[in-house]
Amino acid sequence: MDATLPGNEGRGRSNPLREGIGFFGRFLRNPASVGAVLPSSRYLSRALVGHLDLAPGELIVEFGPGTGPATAIVAERLPPHANYLGIELDERFHGILTRRFPRLAFHRGSAADVREILAEHGLPRPRRVMSGLPFATLPPAVQDSVIDGIVWALRGHDGDFRTFQYVHAYGMRAARRFRRLMQERFTGFERIGPIMRNVPPAYVLRYWGAK
Ligand SMILES: C[S@@+](CC[C@H](N)C(=O)[O-])C[C@H]1O[C@@H](n2cnc3c(N)ncnc32)[C@H](O)[C@@H]1O
Repeated sequence: MDATLPGNEGRGRSNPLREGIGFFGRFLRNPASVGAVLPSSRYLSRALVGHLDLAPGELIVEFGPGTGPATAIVAERLPPHANYLGIELDERFHGILTRRFPRLAFHRGSAADVREILAEHGLPRPRRVMSGLPFATLPPAVQDSVIDGIVWALRGHDGDFRTFQYVHAYGMRAARRFRRLMQERFTGFERIGPIMRNVPPAYVLRYWGAK
């Protein structure tokens, strides 16, 4: 599949109220997997995406795009010669994403299977990986597979991984476990924020130098 974004039309319109209600409904059905009551704000999404410095043919992969707040920022900033693939587990969110961003590619499945998914789409290892996955509520086995996939994707080049953690959950055991495992496997770490203009406030975490 060709995941190239030829133009900038993938910005994606959305109705924030409807999106918020729909997102909350998915949270009620599956709280551990959705892991948040509201989609991320534009402020958090901008901090998460940062500057998209991608060479021709390079790829950015997003884990758990949800209804697409960070995807909308990617669509604004993605160079026309670069590629994007979103990997989303929830069927309803996957449908919303494909309608909202017709020029971007989405795969319905688990980020734990990123290697197989990229092979299926004929895509190279990504330069950038960003994630909205709720690591604090994911089962340890899923956390471990996702971390293995991120290290596999980023080893041997200077690409980076970005995610966010809510301030109120930053000290939770699963959140600390995730940071400890990541720190063992990456040489570089930066914490940005907290981004206060988000409900709830969150830190952006950036890792590079996969070992
Ligand atoms: C906290 S929400 C974040 C949604 C969006 N990125 C945002 O910032 O508003 C977590 C998202 O991860 C998705 N998700 C959970 N486990 C997943 C997995 N193993 N693979 C892919 N997506 C997953 C959920 O369906 C949900 O869309």
